[in-house]
Amino acid sequence: MQQLVRRGFSLGNTLSSDTERQNQNQCNLDRWAQGLPVFLPAQCLASRAKHRTNIEQTESLITAVIDGKDCDSVLAQAPYVTRLEPKFQSLGSTFNEGDQQEIEMVMFDAMDGDKIIAEDLWLKASWLSFHDDDLSLRFRFSFGIDLEEDVAADPFRQQLAAELTDAVFPESSIITENSELIDKLKNILASDGVRFVERIIYFNGPNGGAYLHHDLERGHAGVVFAQLSGHTFWLALPKQTLIEEIIRFSKSCSWPNSLTLEMRKEMSNLVGDRCYLAEQLDSFANTSLIHLINETEEFVQFLIARGYSTKLEPGDVLLLPQATEQTCCWHSVFCLGDEMGQALSFAIRPDH
Ligand SMILES: [Fe+2]
Repeated sequence: MQQLVRRGFSLGNTLSSDTERQNQNQCNLDRWAQGLPVFLPAQCLASRAKHRTNIEQTESLITAVIDGKDCDSVLAQAPYVTRLEPKFQSLGSTFNEGDQQEIEMVMFDAMDGDKIIAEDLWLKASWLSFHDDDLSLRFRFSFGIDLEEDVAADPFRQQLAAELTDAVFPESSIITENSELIDKLKNILASDGVRFVERIIYFNGPNGGAYLHHDLERGHAGVVFAQLSGHTFWLALPKQTLIEEIIRFSKSCSWPNSLTLEMRKEMSNLVGDRCYLAEQLDSFANTSLIHLINETEEFVQFLIARGYSTKLEPGDVLLLPQATEQTCCWHSVFCLGDEMGQALSFAIRPDH
């Protein structure tokens, strides 16, 4: 058993790892179709061992970023510059004063000789929270205007942003060249091939992780998450099931003490109206709901007891279906232990 602490909130303990691992004896195809996470233990253990040097290099990059060095100048040095150039030319960094979570965005052009073949590719480094004791961060690779671009409409630039990830984090091939994993994905998706796009390299540190959310995006079937170092603990379940579990919690438990009278009234209204509850979940703006499902030991332990938890060790992979708004797998992440771990999180695009 290990303690769950995230952004200053103590959320109880994990189950014993045996119990968590035995929970998932259902067929992977059925789980995926139902919007449940698919756990693939030790799926990338062998390929991870081959990338030890790259993973250590990445640890140095993260240390530099946490120490306040700018990514652009680190990427202008070996070994990065020789992997980036001549195809990817850095245009330097931008710093968005309006986004407190953003650390730095490095812009690139993709070149073919002297010719620019794509513009506005970028990597964006961001903190995962505003909590002082949480150093969790991520590097996201994409293109165009962030959160406005229809990325699925431009597979050429999407592919180039994926290649940019390979240049900075060659350990990406732990997923992209893992033939056994790719065969499993092709089987699950009934697809001739898969592409790994909209890539994120995560570093979940002590006291960090992510609140319940989804990663639904047009053109993507889901997300593959590979734990390369460190340990994480997950709660993952389809949206409709999450809604039913919130209602079930309200009927079988009293509201946690940390909810004010006002918050309890708000929650009672929400659980009395499934449509309103779904709408408020999607808004990510209802503070009573966010507090209950992410920051109370009572609700986190309720979901664990109901069998929705998974513990990831180095080498483990978790697949998160994100096909439709109703069935997409909502997920919440916790860092376990004292180590900041590295993980790969790539969107899966079926390639028919
Ligand atoms: Fe996610």
